[in-house]
Amino acid sequence: MINTELKDDRSLESQCESIGRIVSVSGSEAIVLLNNSISDDVSIIQNRPEIGTLLKLKTSNAVVLALVSALNVPMPSQRDQESEVWIAELELVGEIVEDGESRRKEFRRGVTIYPSLGEKVYMATRQELEAAYCSNREKAISVGQIRQDTTIPAMINVDELLGKHFAILGTTGTGKSCSVALMLRSILVENPEAHVVLLDPHNEYAASFNGLAEVIKPDDLQLPYWFLIFEEIVEVLVGDRGGKSDQVEILSELIPLAKSQYGNHRSRSAQTALRRSLSGGLSYSVDTPVPYRLSDLLSLIDDRMGMLEHKNDLWPLKQLKQRIEAMTTDKRYSFMFGSLTVQDQMAEILGRIFRVPVNGRPISILQLTGLPSEIVNVVVSVLCRMTFDFGLWAGGSIPLTLVCEEAHRYIPNDKSLGFEPTRRAIAKVAKEGRKYGVSLCIVSQRPSELDSTILSQCNTVFAMRMSNDRDQQIVAAAVADSASGMLEFLPSIGTGEAIAFGDGVPLPVRIRFNRLPQEHMPKSQTALFTERWRQQIGNDDLLKSVVEKWRSSSSSAIVRNDDLKPEIQPPHSNSDSEPLPAIQQSLDNSQEQNLVQSFQSSLAENFSTQPKKRNSDLLTPELKLRLKKRFGESG
Ligand SMILES: Nc1ncnc2c1ncn2[C@@H]1O[C@H](COP(=O)(O)OP(=O)(O)O)[C@@H](O)[C@H]1O
Ligand SMILES: [Mg+2]
Repeated sequence: MINTELKDDRSLESQCESIGRIVSVSGSEAIVLLNNSISDDVSIIQNRPEIGTLLKLKTSNAVVLALVSALNVPMPSQRDQESEVWIAELELVGEIVEDGESRRKEFRRGVTIYPSLGEKVYMATRQELEAAYCSNREKAISVGQIRQDTTIPAMINVDELLGKHFAILGTTGTGKSCSVALMLRSILVENPEAHVVLLDPHNEYAASFNGLAEVIKPDDLQLPYWFLIFEEIVEVLVGDRGGKSDQVEILSELIPLAKSQYGNHRSRSAQTALRRSLSGGLSYSVDTPVPYRLSDLLSLIDDRMGMLEHKNDLWPLKQLKQRIEAMTTDKRYSFMFGSLTVQDQMAEILGRIFRVPVNGRPISILQLTGLPSEIVNVVVSVLCRMTFDFGLWAGGSIPLTLVCEEAHRYIPNDKSLGFEPTRRAIAKVAKEGRKYGVSLCIVSQRPSELDSTILSQCNTVFAMRMSNDRDQQIVAAAVADSASGMLEFLPSIGTGEAIAFGDGVPLPVRIRFNRLPQEHMPKSQTALFTERWRQQIGNDDLLKSVVEKWRSSSSSAIVRNDDLKPEIQPPHSNSDSEPLPAIQQSLDNSQEQNLVQSFQSSLAENFSTQPKKRNSDLLTPELKLRLKKRFGESG
């Protein structure tokens, strides 16, 4: 106690002493010749500027604040006691002016009066640091402490942060997820009617918001297939399979027809004014988000098949039909194709995801682990697209924030990777979201692999530890000169620390985030080897549950007959003598293994309970084809 008081006294004293004088000014930069007192005295060492330290210069009518951007000794002495020149380069960042009436000290960015040569330079006092870093507390939240003085909170201006997008970048394990949780928690506590959507690819955030979050798990997600725009439904139904163009063409013709069939059917039953006004039936584009029935689509495909003369032309149609049938019976896809009846629940689904009304849960967490990996991209695309469209059609009256974890997966810099509609959707939020109150938070461990145009739209950046050179370069390109010196620390800053710069913070600053309570910590990805390897865990039950999960994830494409509750009755079965389509030309090893494994496990499971079932009954048509293609007729 006495010690700290003593220390405070001494540091107060030393704060009044100048630490050097200006020897050069050019534009917004200045050079200071530092008093080079080599000493072991703690108070002197404490008052030596570091890179990122805020200093002050007294001019005639204001106090100018400057950040140290570089430090050097141009000619180091060869011997002890020999004097040497110590230099600090400064970036002039703003002024502290006294408000005429209240006599309150206020910080303003930009400098009106420049310092002249010989002017003395001081460490900024506590009040000045507070004025600089903690002004406008009303709309700001505190997320940690600043490094220069740990008694001063690191404040973030919420409107600037969210209004102009932000990014959290840093190597795995540096505390990105913890910071996301921490910042969002602080924002949500202050703003209980917020609307935040968090894409959670590792299912790690559920515990971080306890009562504040609507956690949407893969098994209670609802995203009907008719929400999908054309490219997305093509990705789901056609994917990379061969003969793509034929199938795409068929879908582009038949989906609008199926939509109008459903629309016309509804308009006949409910004679609404809108629908009546459209004489001659309703017409839709492939992208209009209105419901349609898969059964209508399938019968349209059947009609087409009936009209064809050449057997070869049947293949794209058959493939499509098989794929649609497989999807409707695959449990993993039930969130998209599972509903037995088609209902227009768009409003409810949007309401749940975007928290309208909030009902005490201002954030929705969409857990993506557990969704079929081949369509995670489509799901993300739909969600990002809907976020923008929702903001747009709500006319900006409901500001939304979309948090995108592992963003490099969805918006890779390499245009040949990723899923184009997802990139487009996120880019749209980044570019135009501001107009409609839709903001973006990008979280990534590989800044250099992120789409650079989208990253450049993020006005506030929290750079956490990163060691990769290219990643550092990308961050450096985004930062103003005043903070570029600070970025030199990026490879060495601690876990839970960040260099924050941009509009969300008053000045570029090195901060330490508050500690997140253990119970709110996102589920860490770092395996606790030593903890787990020192005691016995794992028994038969664990083993069984692992096997169970494993199987259900890879074998649900194989559906037993009694599990089938088709919305569509599969019409007359296709003859097996048809030539094989060019699908799955490249079934890679892992796919093959999965296929064999799921086939075997399904066989085992079925034969133990229903020994009389024929093998072929266990397979969806698509799987039959894939197996036949891979292993020949005998397989
Ligand atoms: N603000 C914080 N409060 C408490 N612990 C933290 C904080 N930041 C980081 N950590 C520690 O660092 C670990 C990794 O953090 P995490 O957010 O999962 O990193 P990342 O998302 O970058 O991989 C956490 O498990 C936690 O122990
Ligand atoms: Mg993380």
